[in-house]
Amino acid sequence: MDAVAAEPTYPGLGGFIPGARGSLMLDVVFLAMFLVVPLLGISYCLVKFRRQYDLHKRLQLAMAAVLLVAVLLFELDTRINGWEQRAAPSPFFDPAHKWSCPAGISLLIHLAFAVPTLVLWTVVVVQALRNFSRPPAPGAHSRWHARWATLAALGMVLTAATGWVFYWLAFIATAPNPA
Ligand code: HEM
Repeated sequence: MDAVAAEPTYPGLGGFIPGARGSLMLDVVFLAMFLVVPLLGISYCLVKFRRQYDLHKRLQLAMAAVLLVAVLLFELDTRINGWEQRAAPSPFFDPAHKWSCPAGISLLIHLAFAVPTLVLWTVVVVQALRNFSRPPAPGAHSRWHARWATLAALGMVLTAATGWVFYWLAFIATAPNPA
């Protein structure tokens, strides 16, 4: 009788992306970023070309709320269950050199964008809520907001891009079978 290779089991809830080894929350955040990046573009166009400031505000607040909840759940998941076991089959991950193998380096690069972006994003939203009129309209806060919000948005795009690279290196790439 042929031996059937057992599916590896990992700690925590498994994800849903076919062919990948991510946990449920890793997969949720990975896919959510594909939504956030185009939404950011739409939100930018709403103010730049259509002057729909209220819609821009609502879209940004909704994104901030969803991202906050996703990041909290994601943090809990990776703190409790770790990610190393799920990355183990990848040829780009080496548990003995966790932070100097390609997957570890890509995670450090990702965090270098993600952490400052999270702080900047929070500051931009809080300052906008405190300083723009209600309903929101251009005013004395516009110059500050234009500069730092653009930087926050760029940070978010780079956070997404570096996150996708890490996800691929750690949870999709698989060592080729020896011939
Ligand atoms: C992190 C969240 C946010 C980001 C990334 C963001 C991004 C931007 C960007 C890129 C612009 C265009 C700047 C330009 O003209 O070049 C802008 C304009 C504007 N935003 Fe936001 N925004 C955010 C949150 C908010 C919130 C919460 C409010 C309202 C309370 C708001 C109100 C406005 C207004 C009124 C303008 C027009 C300013 C003007 O053209 O003078 N934004 N935003």
